[in-house]
Amino acid sequence: MERDESEGGIGRRQLLILLGAATAGAVALGLKLFQRSSGPWAEEVERGAALRPGESVEFSIGGDDALLRREPDGSFVAFDLTCTHKGCTVRWNAGREEFACPCHKGIYNRTGEVLEGPPKTPLQRLAVDTREGRVIVTKRIRIETN
Ligand code: FES
Repeated sequence: MERDESEGGIGRRQLLILLGAATAGAVALGLKLFQRSSGPWAEEVERGAALRPGESVEFSIGGDDALLRREPDGSFVAFDLTCTHKGCTVRWNAGREEFACPCHKGIYNRTGEVLEGPPKTPLQRLAVDTREGRVIVTKRIRIETN
C-alpha cells in the first residue's frame, strides 16, 4: 500500500530523492577520502647508484627527509626519516647502526624497528627500484585537496 504524501508521511518520490541525495553525498565523501590517502611519490636519488655497500645518502621525497642505504649484499633500503612518535627528523648513525631521534631520544635499529624511547611503530620503509643504472624510491603520501 502506497502512502499518500498529503497525509504528512514520506512518499515514494520523496524517499527516492532522499536516497539519491544520500548516495551522492556518500560518493562525494568517498572520493574526498580517496584523494586524501592516495598518490605515490617517486623520486630518483642522485648518487644512489654510486653508493658502495655500507654507504648512505639523505634526500627529500614528498617534502620529507629520507635515507637511502646500500646494504652489504649490494641491495638498497630506504626509510622515511620522520619519527613515528611526534614527527621529528631522525638521523642515521652508521657507526652504531641505528637511527636516533633528537626530540625524545627514540632509537630505531638498522631495519627501522623501535629499540628504545616513546615511538610505538617502526620507521616507514620506502620502496626502492633500480632501473638502467638509476635508483628510484617511491613513497605513498597524503594529498590534501582543500
Ligand atoms: S619525536 Fe621522535 S622520539 Fe619523540
